[in-house]
Amino acid sequence: MKYHIVTYGCQMNVHESEKIAGLLRGAGYEEEGAAEEADIIVFNTCCIRENAENHAFGNIGALKKLKKNKRGLLIAVGGCMAQEEGKAALLLRKFPFIDIVFGTHNVAELPALIERKRREKKVVSLLPDRAETEDGAQPFRTSYPNAWVNITYGCNNFCTYCIVPYVRGREKSRSADVIVEEVRSLVAAGYKEITLLGQNVNSYRDGETDFPALLERVASLDGKFRIRFMTSHPKDFSERLVACMARHEKICDLLHLPAQSGSSRILSRMNRRYTREQYLEKVALFRKYIPEGELTTDLIVAFPGETEEEFEETLSLVKEADFSSAFTFVYSPRTGTKAAEMEGRIPAEIAKARITRLIDCVNENTRRKSERYVGQVIEVLCEDYDEKKGLYLGREPLGRMGYFSAPCNCVGEFVRIRVSRANGISLFGERV
Ligand code: 5AD
Ligand code: SF4
Repeated sequence: MKYHIVTYGCQMNVHESEKIAGLLRGAGYEEEGAAEEADIIVFNTCCIRENAENHAFGNIGALKKLKKNKRGLLIAVGGCMAQEEGKAALLLRKFPFIDIVFGTHNVAELPALIERKRREKKVVSLLPDRAETEDGAQPFRTSYPNAWVNITYGCNNFCTYCIVPYVRGREKSRSADVIVEEVRSLVAAGYKEITLLGQNVNSYRDGETDFPALLERVASLDGKFRIRFMTSHPKDFSERLVACMARHEKICDLLHLPAQSGSSRILSRMNRRYTREQYLEKVALFRKYIPEGELTTDLIVAFPGETEEEFEETLSLVKEADFSSAFTFVYSPRTGTKAAEMEGRIPAEIAKARITRLIDCVNENTRRKSERYVGQVIEVLCEDYDEKKGLYLGREPLGRMGYFSAPCNCVGEFVRIRVSRANGISLFGERV
């Protein structure tokens, strides 16, 4: 029996899909296959913005024919959208051919739900937020040489635009001993890059162990491997953390620090709990300890009430903080969040013009910074082969993708390349 998993959204979901794959393998499904060959199709959904939901709706709807033509095919929908208030009912109304709906708090129950589906008609199981962090689900990892490791689940921040705290529940930290042991065994198994995951890694805490202390323990493990982490909330980004980053060669000198806006008034309306000036202080701290490091960020335009001047403050922040790249978003109202009730909705044409200007502004930084690599030697961790380009690719520590040719498979190896050309975030070169 074959499974097919469709994943939307962030790294957290990508890793959760690895857990779903592990659970399905434990339940007798043997290999991943195309949707047409699968005996079960699982959608791991995202609800962070409206277009993420629309994507999922479109793709689930497209399965109607397949479901009709293939007896016994199971369709399961899980993830953030399934856990969202009222969405499970809407999903079933729109797509009565869905067999199972499960939430973010009961991923580990998927095998039991499949079992139940064999007896019952429709299965909907959405559990409330739960205290435990270990559900025993063993991920079937598909991202070698990188491995994702959860350190926290959920979020307590309630940024006014964000649905995450509602669908992922309150923040919970996993045990430091469990995390360190997981990383140790992943490195022993040959993984070369470990990415620690949490909605806000900086507020990690297990007894006396906070995030810098956890990072210290992970970075002190033996072996050649890289450590990355995401996401950091600026309000909790500390000098101890950046000092730890500077001390350990294993920790990549790349910090993803979502700013969201360059305007203190908008930041306050977003409930981010820092001002533009305080954000720039964190940037200065990072630059002081890691002058050669790179900063990336997330930015939202057209938050309710955002004026032209306030938007321009976001543009000027891109230059002042000197981000090497950014994920840029148009604000999307999410039912149930505070911002969805706020006055001052920005018309779509203005939002579109703003995001275009912002993307141009960010791209200019990316281009300028990537050009500096031409002629230099970088070390990439080879992660894949690009069939179209006929080149291997891998990331350098600061997040750029390096492309090169090689006579034999070098996925999983650290490769040094001399850069001859830059194109946006991509660098091209020859092995040295
Ligand atoms: N609208 C637009 N962008 C959003 N994000 C989160 N919620 C919304 C929303 N309602 C963005 C933030 C966050 C990233 C993961 O998604 O920038 O950091
Ligand atoms: Fe959402 Fe804010 Fe939590 Fe990030 S920190 S998940 S943006 S509420």
